[in-house]
Amino acid sequence: MFDRWFGKSSSKTITKKTMLENFGIGIDIVDVQRFEKIKFQDKPTFYKKLFCQSEIKYCLKYKNPAQHFAGKFACKEALKKSIKKQISFLDVETSHHNSRPVIRLHNTKLGKYRFLVSISHEKEFAVAVVISEKI
Ligand SMILES: CC(C)(COP(=O)(O)OP(=O)(O)OC[C@H]1O[C@@H](n2cnc3c(N)ncnc32)[C@H](O)[C@@H]1OP(=O)(O)O)[C@@H](O)C(=O)NCCC(=O)NCCS
Repeated sequence: MFDRWFGKSSSKTITKKTMLENFGIGIDIVDVQRFEKIKFQDKPTFYKKLFCQSEIKYCLKYKNPAQHFAGKFACKEALKKSIKKQISFLDVETSHHNSRPVIRLHNTKLGKYRFLVSISHEKEFAVAVVISEKI
């Protein structure tokens, strides 16, 4: 089966396989209402279990924080799928570089990774895709 996908075994194809093994991909979609129903001002402890202080500060800058919270939540779930490991929400911190989203994994016991992330949100749903590379 391997030969059918990657051609006859050779050092080149083995390298290709090894490279792919280091990558993972995850996607998640979140209903924005989940965060609209529970406002930060009413239940800050709920938010503090899911989001780092910097993430809360970022989302609260907007007039529709729920969409941004939902995007960040989708991002954390997508990262979990991409590395196929159970992690705590607070292990993942999202931030921005030149307005592009960036993610970091704080729990170094899980190994070292590099990530690519993309987030999008509308009134009702937020989605995120994460590609991980184990380094
Ligand atoms: C970047 C852009 C495509 C976002 O599209 P949008 O429809 O407004 O927003 P979406 O709901 O699809 O996505 C919002 C998310 O996109 C991400 N984002 C913002 N700017 C981004 C960028 N330049 N590249 C990649 N992702 C970006 C953010 O994660 C944002 O969510 P967050 O602020 O809650 O983290 C749009 O703002 C745009 O065209 N901007 C002008 C061109 C541009 O690239 N400017 C960047 C200057 S460095």
